[in-house]
Amino acid sequence: MCGIIGFLGNGEAVPVLLDGLRRLEYRGYDSAGIAVLNQEGIVRRRAAGKIANLEAMLTSNGVAGKAGVGHTRWATHGAPTRRNAHPHMTGRVAVVHNGIIENYRTLRDDMRAGGRRFESETDTEVVAHLFDALLEAEGTPAAAMTALMERLEGMFALAILIEGDDVVLAGARRGAPLAVGWGEGGLFLASDAIALAGHTRKVSYLEEDDLALVRRDGVEILGTGGHPVKRPVVDTELSGAVIGKGNYRHFMEKEIHEQPVAVGETLGRYLDPDAGSITIPGASLGPGAVERMTLIACGTAYYAALIGKYWLERLARLPADADIASEFRYRQAPMVEGGLGVFISQSGETADTLAAMRYARGLGRTVLAVTNTETSTVAREADLVLATHAGPEIGVAATKTFTSQVAVLFCLAVATARDRGTIDHHEVARLAGVLTTLPSTLARVIAMEEEFRQIAWDVAEARHVLYLGRGTSAIVAMEGALKLKEISYIHAEAHAAGEMKHGPIALIDEHVPVIVVAPGDELFDKTMSNVEEARARGGRIILITDEAGAADAGPVADRMVVLPAVDSLVTPLVHAIPVQMIAYHAAMRKGTDVDQPRNLAKSVTVE
Ligand code: M6R
Repeated sequence: MCGIIGFLGNGEAVPVLLDGLRRLEYRGYDSAGIAVLNQEGIVRRRAAGKIANLEAMLTSNGVAGKAGVGHTRWATHGAPTRRNAHPHMTGRVAVVHNGIIENYRTLRDDMRAGGRRFESETDTEVVAHLFDALLEAEGTPAAAMTALMERLEGMFALAILIEGDDVVLAGARRGAPLAVGWGEGGLFLASDAIALAGHTRKVSYLEEDDLALVRRDGVEILGTGGHPVKRPVVDTELSGAVIGKGNYRHFMEKEIHEQPVAVGETLGRYLDPDAGSITIPGASLGPGAVERMTLIACGTAYYAALIGKYWLERLARLPADADIASEFRYRQAPMVEGGLGVFISQSGETADTLAAMRYARGLGRTVLAVTNTETSTVAREADLVLATHAGPEIGVAATKTFTSQVAVLFCLAVATARDRGTIDHHEVARLAGVLTTLPSTLARVIAMEEEFRQIAWDVAEARHVLYLGRGTSAIVAMEGALKLKEISYIHAEAHAAGEMKHGPIALIDEHVPVIVVAPGDELFDKTMSNVEEARARGGRIILITDEAGAADAGPVADRMVVLPAVDSLVTPLVHAIPVQMIAYHAAMRKGTDVDQPRNLAKSVTVE
């Protein structure tokens, strides 16, 4: 959600903070602000809207100082105005915050009664006042931070700039990530290592309820109870170049194009093409070990979960459920003995997914994480991590992490099927062969971009769009509808094609493009019957199919794209690309903000 950064160093803080905020902007872009410490005390600059507005303000009204904190906001409490922008200041402190302070009303009422005055509608300002008061009462930042953690409820990460103490920055983590960066030119606190790319690769990730006290001579990390603890310093392998846009206009465009490499890198961890084998290291998946799998995630990752469910049922004949994380624990879903929870999250920090995972652990179930962030909370708390190796994904719309998740889930389904004896080693070797050629097929599909762009320009004129498919193609259709809504703001719905006649067909008229995802598989003819029904009611049909489908389709479609043929099992990976590109080019045509669509944030660390 929000991005936070703190810096204490030898050089000027503002360029470092701004650079970090630009890298964190994917986490939220409702407002931005910085506070720096200099001879005058703490000086603050804030602006509503994107970081560019803050930069413009700093150009005309700059501030100097060698320590500071910065924030880019995704609004939770209070409108995205300058008044509600972080940092929030009072007395000797300036606070930036990611997450939610759940008991802020009670704390604010108590402090108001004690004479403190609040300027904003945020929960964060309560932290500033409370910490300032505790600093007075306790005398040291360490004691004040410990007392602060006892008083705050919720999930949050904090970075606090302190005037008049050798502890210049204090950080805390509870439920939202915070990293300490160890640079040559200074010390850092940041929501994630991406913020520090170009400044340092040496990072320590705080654990739950850790505090970090940053002085000129180093960082002291205190664990629960205020005792000093050591957290490993890891090399993040992130460089400024890795997370730049390169020659692309948008991160989303770049990330769509990176899919052959992302999927190839990911498959490389589970697939041995020479041996014709697919393995999930560390997992026992056979009968007795796993009786059921429950795949849980949010948004795009949930669609990956649904595809995984189809494969687990079909290939491994294993009962499998896919569930939305935000619903799972609140309905107190049972998980049977021998049930394995599979939690899918590119960021590994999604609050709903994390909470659902903790619920499953609370039931005593083994939990497995599929994540693109091996240092994330989801990864750290899982019994086993199946990493995707897609590289950093900055565009808010998930693309390469989706196909990478789907690739891992295919490997999981194949390995489970082998362990359950529902497929033999010949079939595993055949499927390993299918996967081996997949990255090059993805590259061929990406090369068809101009065809997808033409469709997108047509779609961009519509107010409503329908996506249809059957089997795993229905899930690709759902992902296509989500992508279109998310970045082009066009209303889109996806349905399993067979469901149309039970209601959604009433939506169809000549103004509604109907995008049909239908590879030439065993469901093709059934899908085409539903397409005929839509066409008979004036629907404009855009058919995404393959060579076999094109041969069978007849003159049903107003437009058709013909993708390379692949084994019918892996079509979701191939057919995901056109729906991503249609959404991307529709957004381009409409001129919306592709990488930072309105109201959204990349990493959703609040419930
Ligand atoms: O980081 P996660 O995979 O847990 O994120 C889950 C969703 O928030 C995410 O997939 C979201 O739906 C994307 N913006 C979709 O493009």
